[in-house]
Amino acid sequence: MSDKREIDPVTGQETTGHEWDGIRELDTPMPRWWLWTFYATIAWSVAYMIAMPAIPLVSDYTKGVLGYSQRESVRMDIAEAREAQSGLRSRIEEASLEEILDVADLREFAVAGGQSAFAVNCSQCHGSGGAGAPGYPNLNDDAWVWGGSLERIHEIIRVGIRSEHPDTLFNEMPAFLKDELLPRDQVDDVVEYVLAISGQDHEVESADRGRGVFLEQCAACHMESGKGDRELGAPNLTDAIWLYGGDRESIWNTVADPRNGVMPNWDDKLDPVTRKQLAIYVHQLGGGE
Ligand code: HEC
Ligand code: HEC
Repeated sequence: MSDKREIDPVTGQETTGHEWDGIRELDTPMPRWWLWTFYATIAWSVAYMIAMPAIPLVSDYTKGVLGYSQRESVRMDIAEAREAQSGLRSRIEEASLEEILDVADLREFAVAGGQSAFAVNCSQCHGSGGAGAPGYPNLNDDAWVWGGSLERIHEIIRVGIRSEHPDTLFNEMPAFLKDELLPRDQVDDVVEYVLAISGQDHEVESADRGRGVFLEQCAACHMESGKGDRELGAPNLTDAIWLYGGDRESIWNTVADPRNGVMPNWDDKLDPVTRKQLAIYVHQLGGGE
């Protein structure tokens, strides 16, 4: 390597004097446009730091002469959105559930608000689209445990099921085996009977014996037909829709020691407008009556 700067005979440009194995490095100046762009970005950054919040200090930051704040601008956006919504919100507050359903813009607003409230408050149990999970009812279909009218859904959301609310909907299926209300062989029989009325494979003789047990022990809530009673929150046992699963083992587990799931109440956790929006949203998911 040598440090001799000289003029390159091919390009006529000065070399840096660096040379490796006979290859010499040209000392080409930066293009003008690049240099000016570079200077411009420096000037821009200085101007930006003066105008906008930029430099962190120990417990604060430089505010900049324009005093812009993203937080403030979001706050103003939210305030504007509230303002725009407040008309609709107060109309929803005053309207009955049926009226909301009938008036297109109220209905649309309620469904949109209900959808986002559902995602935040309900989806962890009922699934993001309301499709449910074992123990948590599907809210999309027209099989209801407690009822699918607009009023009923609204009430369920307000007071909950087996919740801590004083007006909660309440009914508990007894734990027939655990609390020794039935001997094990009668539990087996009545499970076969439930399999029979729900149209599944079953042991015929056992199911015949189970019929008597059912009429005596179960019909008060699930009705003689086994079709259940929504007033009592007793599920229909004759359809293919199950809260806890319809196979022999699941049914047996329920009869032996039912879970009696809890649906929380939202009376003091969600405002009345949001609860109405949720009722409208759930009602229009597909199973509303
Ligand atoms: C902690 C879990 C949980 C959360 C959160 C929850 N639910 Fe429920 N929900 C339940 C359970 C469990 C039941 C069924 C209770 C039973 O066994 O009868 C239920 C039942 C219902 C029913 C009655 C369904 C039927 O078939 O009659 C409706 C309607 C309902 N939930 C709506 C909602 C809405 C709307 C929200 C949100 C505001 C919500 N739930 C939040 C657990 C939950
Ligand atoms: C006091 C009322 C009551 C009586 C009596 C009762 N049940 Fe129930 N049953 C319920 C309720 C309420 C539920 C829903 C439990 C829940 O939501 O966790 C239920 C749920 C069930 C389920 C689960 C249904 C599903 O969709 O997964 C089965 C099966 C069942 N009962 C069978 C029986 C049988 C068999 C008897 C009689 C031996 C009986 N029940 C007696 C109230 C009753």
